[in-house]
Amino acid sequence: MATKESIARKLAAALKPGKAPASQPAEAKADHATPLLDARKANKEATPEMLQQAAKDNLFLHFTRHSPFQTGDMPIITRAEGHHFWDQNGKKYFDGISSLFSVNAGHGRARLAEAAAKQMKQLDYFPIWAHAHAPAIELAERVLSYAPRSLNRVFFTTGGGEANETAWKLAKQYFKMTGKPTKHKVLTRAIAYHGTSHGALSLTGIPAMKKMYEPLVPSTFRVPNTNWYRAQDDFETEEDFALWAANRVEEMILFEDPDTVAAFFFEPVQNSGGCFTAPKSYFKRIREICDKYDVLLVADETIDGFGRIGTMFASEFYDIEPDMLVCAKGITSAYAPLGALLLSERLFEPFKDGKNIFAHGYTFAGHPVSCAVALENLDIFDEEDLVGNVRRNSPAFRKTLEKLNDLPIVGDVRGEGYFFAIELVRDKKTKETFNDEESERLLRQFLSHDLYDSGLYCRSDDRGDPVVQLAPPLTIGPKEFDELEQILRKSLTKASEIFELM
Ligand SMILES: Cc1ncc(COP(=O)(O)O)c(C=O)c1O
Repeated sequence: MATKESIARKLAAALKPGKAPASQPAEAKADHATPLLDARKANKEATPEMLQQAAKDNLFLHFTRHSPFQTGDMPIITRAEGHHFWDQNGKKYFDGISSLFSVNAGHGRARLAEAAAKQMKQLDYFPIWAHAHAPAIELAERVLSYAPRSLNRVFFTTGGGEANETAWKLAKQYFKMTGKPTKHKVLTRAIAYHGTSHGALSLTGIPAMKKMYEPLVPSTFRVPNTNWYRAQDDFETEEDFALWAANRVEEMILFEDPDTVAAFFFEPVQNSGGCFTAPKSYFKRIREICDKYDVLLVADETIDGFGRIGTMFASEFYDIEPDMLVCAKGITSAYAPLGALLLSERLFEPFKDGKNIFAHGYTFAGHPVSCAVALENLDIFDEEDLVGNVRRNSPAFRKTLEKLNDLPIVGDVRGEGYFFAIELVRDKKTKETFNDEESERLLRQFLSHDLYDSGLYCRSDDRGDPVVQLAPPLTIGPKEFDELEQILRKSLTKASEIFELM
């Protein structure tokens, strides 16, 4: 499978010794210049140039190559409204990926700011450590009302990675407390991303993202994902392939010994690799396998949750009854940080009596301001029927993007709801992918810049094979689908020409 090969290639390339330039002896900053603070004290506005320089001097951006900022500007975003945002130069962009798969209700919702201000005035902060507060109580009930029936308790976090971390720790403790102390291992899927802390990164199935941080937490094992596009040659139907993929979970449980396996983590629609979907039969089979070996099923809906797939939770869309469900991002439409782990009562049972505690928590988890914002955000979801909007318009979105199939570089258009990936190939017939050097040129040197220059912010990525991904705010409709298609068409046509594809 090309996917496996490209991962192996990337790993080998990245492990070459001496690849990174030897670091110069660090030159300490002469002083801590504070032009922004000085301007603030003088009641003056910082100029764009001052901001740019201070950004370059002081910030360490996440997941970012800093080399372009030696010569060029760091993009600085100044405001946002609806499905658009603007940069420091006043240039307007279509937010084709809801900033980070997060701003589901769209930007600029004044009422979310008002909800935050109201909550801050009432109760600015109190931890949910041995105390509760109304916003967390109300939000827990509200979120559970959308969840599969199997789930009836909420452990708040501040994001998706923490919720995955929490799920794994809870699984380990649960089995220790219920007479199966050797159950601790977890299975996850190839190329899946589950976060960056040591535990969550250990769950992540992207070798190139992990190697600098090894050794990681032991006892995680990878099973195949449901990349149907790359599997089609070997199977007659997607159902056959999905059954094969699900059965690999059973195989891995048996390889590792069911007495040692605690949980299986998966995304209903897997983001990394490019929106891998699966038929309902896959999830049904997974559930059967987990039941058979008493392995907990954990749905990571960090991206999929809150309408992205066309139902409040993707688990509803695919009839999944998980033992735990991770959510974050869209819960507040990213207006405030929040994540949550939803769990079945069975997992809470051992903590009800006696002296047992779950010795785990986060200062800002379930922050009252974030919970108040989440409640208001979910009111917007209801009032504007955002989830219905996705359900009604998703087929039209897919159809519009499928028009791109006439371009030689487009191998596959896949996804669900308002979450789509376009896989780029060298050869449409053979599905030959780009090698690493080509992929670098295609995605990082050309496409991401060209799309951004054309006013579209989306994701070009090759954690698996090269894809362009879209996950726009849930507010948009057919007019915006056309706009997206036209911008993509121009850039992908140019990319086809650069690689002389016919
Ligand atoms: C599926 C999935 N799980 C976990 C995470 C980590 O979430 P966070 O960055 O909130 O920790 C992400 C982030 O994008 C994600 O997509």
